Amino acid sequence: MTFAVRYFSRSGNTKKIAEAIAEELGTVAVSVDSSDAALNEKVDVLFVGGALYAYGIDKKLTAYLKNLDASKVGKVAAFSTAMLSAHANDVIKKHARAKGINVQDETFFCKSKEVDSSVGKAKEFAKASVK
Ligand SMILES: Cc1cc2nc3c(=O)[nH]c(=O)nc-3n(C[C@H](O)[C@H](O)[C@H](O)COP(=O)(O)O)c2cc1C
Repeated sequence: MTFAVRYFSRSGNTKKIAEAIAEELGTVAVSVDSSDAALNEKVDVLFVGGALYAYGIDKKLTAYLKNLDASKVGKVAAFSTAMLSAHANDVIKKHARAKGINVQDETFFCKSKEVDSSVGKAKEFAKASVK
């Protein structure tokens, strides 16, 4: 099973969750605005994380999803943080489906004030998603 973790985070909350997922899987979390964000090889599971800003995701994450090479992704597993709403996961899933990529039903969400206490649950999500 191969996997990769990509995310966009303005203030570090989603980054913490991305890094917890990556740590659990023995890989690194890469920001979508990094020059390393492109997938070199096909992955079975691509974890994609973002946050909600004014009920939408950051345009850098939108651009990343629109440019994804569908032939390199087995399925997308979405995760997000926000003050209240898990809607970013729906947006990530919608963009992945629009590219014809399989999307895992299960997603991970935690509220921004609960990021630190949710690291363990994020790791469980990671483990369950690559089974
Ligand atoms: C400009 C702005 C708009 C936001 N809009 C929403 C929103 O519509 N709904 C929500 O639940 N949280 C909203 N939030 C809260 C963020 O989603 C939350 O702080 C998130 O954890 C930030 O993640 P990041 O640190 O990875 O950027 C907003 C935050 C900012 C700065």
